[in-house]
Amino acid sequence: MKKWTVSTFQAAKGHEKLGCCTAYDACFARLADEAGVPCILVGDSMGMTMLGYETTLPVKMEETLSATAAVARAVKNALVVADMPFGSYQCGDDAAMANAVACLKVGADAIKLEGGARVCGLIRRMTEAGIPVLAHVGMTPQSVNAYGGFKKQGKTREAAAQVLADAEAVEAAGAFAVTLECVPNDLGAQITAALKIPTVGIGAGPVCDAQWLVMHDLLGLNTGHVPSFVKQYAHLADSARAAFAQYVAEVASGTFPPADKT
Ligand code: KIV
Repeated sequence: MKKWTVSTFQAAKGHEKLGCCTAYDACFARLADEAGVPCILVGDSMGMTMLGYETTLPVKMEETLSATAAVARAVKNALVVADMPFGSYQCGDDAAMANAVACLKVGADAIKLEGGARVCGLIRRMTEAGIPVLAHVGMTPQSVNAYGGFKKQGKTREAAAQVLADAEAVEAAGAFAVTLECVPNDLGAQITAALKIPTVGIGAGPVCDAQWLVMHDLLGLNTGHVPSFVKQYAHLADSARAAFAQYVAEVASGTFPPADKT
């Protein structure tokens, strides 16, 4: 298997569709990497999947750095992208630069941040400093309070034009790829055709150059709400629950540990 880089990720556009996902620890990152996932995002979705919050907003920079370091230690081939948490790049560009540098210091190959035209100055500065940036437009979960919930974006003609303009702006600013989250499929297709950089869709239709799935959705580990665009490729929550229950029952009944094993 080849080592994925920002360049090979970009070169896949138009040739190879890439199935990418999140991971937040060494165990699952190793499994995803061994399975050939080309790009692993240490998403701020960890706030919801791993830490039990209702939104991604509470995730701290220290949590992102710790998870990114764990993922980077486990991964041999995948591109590792650290997702900058809320507050880590809205706090002034110098602080944002320092936080992005910290992500690369612990092993990330690139960072991701949310926003279109409003974050282009930062994307330009990071790119010029050698920090590859994966942008994120459409539904940006860190803006949940502004939206009044996790709501599909780009549904009207004007809103769609705004998402397209944001995608074009982040490309011009130097982003190496752009996430399109929760936008209509035809808008995902339009933006994918309009840009030279790859689009990584999540709830943005099949035409995008690559796809994200949150690991807990993909593996069926998520016991809460599952978005309609998700496909669960396994049902690990059921297997894990059954294993825990069997263990508890076997200890209670004296079946485990067996007397004849030391
Ligand atoms: O944090 C995350 O998992 C993400 C994906 C939804 C792209 O940003």
